[in-house]
Amino acid sequence: YRTAAVIPAAGRGVRLGPGVPKALRTLNGTPMLIHAVRAMAASRAVSLVVVVAPPDGAFEVKNLLDEHALPERTDYLVVAGGDTRQESVRLGLDALADNINVVLVHDAARPLVPVDTVDAVIEAVRNGAPAVVPALPLADTVKEVEPQAKGEAEPVVATPERARLRSVQTPQGFDRDTLVRAHETVAVNGEGATDCAGLVERLGAPVVVVPGHEEAFKVTRPLDLVLAEAVLARRRA
Ligand code: CTP
Ligand code: MG
Repeated sequence: YRTAAVIPAAGRGVRLGPGVPKALRTLNGTPMLIHAVRAMAASRAVSLVVVVAPPDGAFEVKNLLDEHALPERTDYLVVAGGDTRQESVRLGLDALADNINVVLVHDAARPLVPVDTVDAVIEAVRNGAPAVVPALPLADTVKEVEPQAKGEAEPVVATPERARLRSVQTPQGFDRDTLVRAHETVAVNGEGATDCAGLVERLGAPVVVVPGHEEAFKVTRPLDLVLAEAVLARRRA
């Protein structure tokens, strides 16, 4: 097997507040994207990393990767992203070398995922699962509501059984052909999904969950930056 990691990093990070694109925001002095690339390159199985950069930032991202040493075994390349995460992932897939048959898709916004989680996902794909997602049980109870105008109280529609729910992380791992087919099919249907595995589910192919990790949380809002820097400081201590 030859494994590549596609890292969508083309988002602006609107929920994080004003500033440079989220992937370029620093955590303890190092850009989030570099942490995320290192997290993928930490796996000995990953031979190629494809970074999907903000369309106006591909040159800057290429320079950044050139500056930060990666293991000798890891090749990397940078492509420009699109308007949605799904589009950015597709552009990353288009850039994969022919000999790649396992693909990880990993959010740049999850810079701290441990290598054991990455390896567990790869292992499950190599053992025959076409699509693998790391996930954790939920701490909070979840309600389905009827959305209302901002500020209005929202009627509850249902409360799904919490024990059956999982909060999904990345890297998600795929048999390459399955993921490419899922993206092509959706391009025809014109539908969106909030993760790659969701596209594979629509194909009718099986998707399995393996244990995720607390440190694979997504940096989305300002408080997440505080947590990420604290985790890094604890690692160095
Ligand atoms: N992403 C991307 N291309 C887009 C939108 C998102 O590559 N057009 C990437 C982000 O860079 C991020 C990952 O998808 O690494 C997960 O998305 P999210 O956490 O939502 O990041 P943003 O879209 O940047 O944040 P926000 O939704 O708050 O603007
Ligand atoms: Mg987003």
